[in-house]
Amino acid sequence: MIPASLLLIGFLILFYNYFWKRRELPPGPLPLPIFGNIREIKNNPPGYDAYRNWRDIYGPVFTYWIGEKPLVAIADYNTMKETLIDDGDSYINRDFFNDFMIILRNNTFGLTSFEGEEWVEQRKFAIKTFHRLGMGKNVMQEKMFIELSRMFEDMDEEIKVTGSNDMNVAPFIETCVASIIYSILFDYQITRERKSDYMKMKTIVYEYTGLFGHWAVQMIMAKPYLFKDLPFFKDYMQKIHKAYWKMSEHVEMMAADAIKNYKMDMDSEANDYVTAFMRQHDATEEKKGYNLGNLNSILVDFYIAGQDTTINSIMWGIIYLMYEPEVIGKMQKEMDDKLGDEEFVGIDDKIKLPYTTAVTHELQRMANVMPQNIARRTTKDVVIGGYKIKEGTTIMPLMSAVLFFPDHLKFDPTRFLSPDEKSVIKVDELIPFSCGRRMCLGAEMAKMEIFLIVANLFRHYDVCFF
Ligand code: HEM
Repeated sequence: MIPASLLLIGFLILFYNYFWKRRELPPGPLPLPIFGNIREIKNNPPGYDAYRNWRDIYGPVFTYWIGEKPLVAIADYNTMKETLIDDGDSYINRDFFNDFMIILRNNTFGLTSFEGEEWVEQRKFAIKTFHRLGMGKNVMQEKMFIELSRMFEDMDEEIKVTGSNDMNVAPFIETCVASIIYSILFDYQITRERKSDYMKMKTIVYEYTGLFGHWAVQMIMAKPYLFKDLPFFKDYMQKIHKAYWKMSEHVEMMAADAIKNYKMDMDSEANDYVTAFMRQHDATEEKKGYNLGNLNSILVDFYIAGQDTTINSIMWGIIYLMYEPEVIGKMQKEMDDKLGDEEFVGIDDKIKLPYTTAVTHELQRMANVMPQNIARRTTKDVVIGGYKIKEGTTIMPLMSAVLFFPDHLKFDPTRFLSPDEKSVIKVDELIPFSCGRRMCLGAEMAKMEIFLIVANLFRHYDVCFF
């Protein structure tokens, strides 16, 4: 017979897990003790189907649990607008699994995890610096044309050397995107001679971002002090730690020259992020967070964010496009009909190329590269979708669920076109960069890269499956 005390303990655990800890949160799937809802996410990798299924059952606002951590998900555009956009200040803080990040990054934070005045200052500085470095202007486009030109030369060379058109375009696109971010951060280009060094770093970035999506790492993130030293989990903790510090050492090495030389030629504008930051470091005497520890963390954030998401969007987009030869044909015809014989398609050509522009929108919608967003934390008590939510609650804006438009598996650029297909229309639900005050800081750069790379690639080559 089971002793009454054991029955009581069992009852208390169940009561706590299934009722007490969930009593002030919106409804959602039943969490297992300790593991939460990780099983459903693990069984539906990378998680889209689990989120959509929960939205269908519980509505657009629901709670799911990563380990013992509850996340209040917002999974439709209207609720995101009412909250993140119309009441932005209440959702401005991050819940970046702080205990985990403190362990992983040794107490340093980057732009994705800063809060308060430090975040306001550093985000303002980053936006200003990107603009000074040419974001949204011809200067940035010129930088991108140089990289595109290098990419096409390298592709042509490979075709010549191998005598075959059968090639994998992925490494060329990866290097092109990476070289753009290296040039902005460090004024450094990945030339042919430097490519093999970059390829080694690239595998570390992929390993790091891949590990973040793994259920074991999610469990550690939720309760690092409980899991990080347990057998099995310890391996994952060590792997992610090692990958992070390799990237950190790499950006430190890349930044070293600019840190040594930033005082030279003070009359000219900074040509890279590190120089701009170091000059600000002198001007503010390190106040407002302009210190070397923060610089390293900010660079690692840009280094990861500036490569992985953009490369994945373009690569997934190209894969989807290759199943749509008619779309490719229509896009290429539009470019042939509307453009002259300039070497490259530019950002100003977008106005003449509504179909091609709509293809890049649809490509980002389909690629849907972030199943989970970076979590926020409420700064005060709020009401979301009719549920009272306390200050300090973790919020997960699930834009991946919003990007599942009706008939979502159909690659259909006309979703973003007027009925006569002569102009691009704004569709609020297209939010691959999320929304509100913490929306992606590199959105303009990423959109420019995606348009320039995709349009120019298909203008120069017929990309298809072999
Ligand atoms: C297709 C490419 C990209 C996608 C889909 C993407 C998506 C996102 C998303 C969803 C967020 C979180 C927003 C939120 O909290 O709600 C974010 C944040 C961020 N992204 Fe991107 N991103 C991309 C490219 C870039 C690039 C190229 C950069 C910079 C070089 C960048 C820098 C950042 C930074 C610094 C943040 C943190 C902003 C903050 O917390 O204030 N991203 N991105």
